Amino acid sequence: MKKIGHTILRLDVVPSTNTLLMESEEYLQNHGLVAIARHQTAGRGRLGRSWQSRPDSQLQFSAVLHPGIPREQAPLFSLAAGLAVAEALERALALRPTLKWPNDVYLGSRKVCGILTELSAGPAGEPRLVVGIGINCRGAPDDFPPEVREVLTTLAHETGRPVDMEAVFGEVLERLQAGFDRLNAGDRAGVLADWSARAPMGGLPLKYPTADGPRHGKALGLSDEGYLLIETAEGARHVHVSGEIEWV
Ligand code: BTN
Repeated sequence: MKKIGHTILRLDVVPSTNTLLMESEEYLQNHGLVAIARHQTAGRGRLGRSWQSRPDSQLQFSAVLHPGIPREQAPLFSLAAGLAVAEALERALALRPTLKWPNDVYLGSRKVCGILTELSAGPAGEPRLVVGIGINCRGAPDDFPPEVREVLTTLAHETGRPVDMEAVFGEVLERLQAGFDRLNAGDRAGVLADWSARAPMGGLPLKYPTADGPRHGKALGLSDEGYLLIETAEGARHVHVSGEIEWV
């Protein structure tokens, strides 16, 4: 199997690197293809949100992955992508990132990276994933719009130094490959354990969305599938599959 990043499409301005790959059957068939853009005019976030792009200040890229495991386990790759970014920031910049389920990367109490994983079934129903990663690198939180300035951060702000974005990009691709190889080799437990070690959440109170509105509970950890296990206010165990959680 080819390495992730065997081909890198370097683009100037695109609506969204995820959309670019998701809309092209040719790209989707090419495991390991990566598209990176200097700027996105219609960057997309999880749960239908938009992703704010600032030219030349963020690493914004997407990779096509053909997971060699059953389709039901595809969510694990989404977790592995968050873990890959956390590991890369630690290796390249000696930072201590933490993870928020499913794959936000935090530095202290502020988010530095968001990940959007999308699934497209191939001709024989085989899963093809597009993993889109956005990392805030240059500038300061004050460069963001007022409504998100308090909750985001950048690598430059956290390290107090200029950031070599190419070095971070290379490190993320390498760790992404490592996580991909581990999952394909069946080391699901190891990936979940490494993810959990970077997610200080055991017992923390949270709010989670349900069809009947937000509910309160406590984070218990991850299920074997990479879903979030929550203890409900009534003491039951709930498996949370999708939807933004909020620490309270
Ligand atoms: C989130 O935090 O909600 C996920 C944000 C994902 C942003 C990245 S930037 C590269 C790729 N292209 C997109 O349109 N989105 C992802």
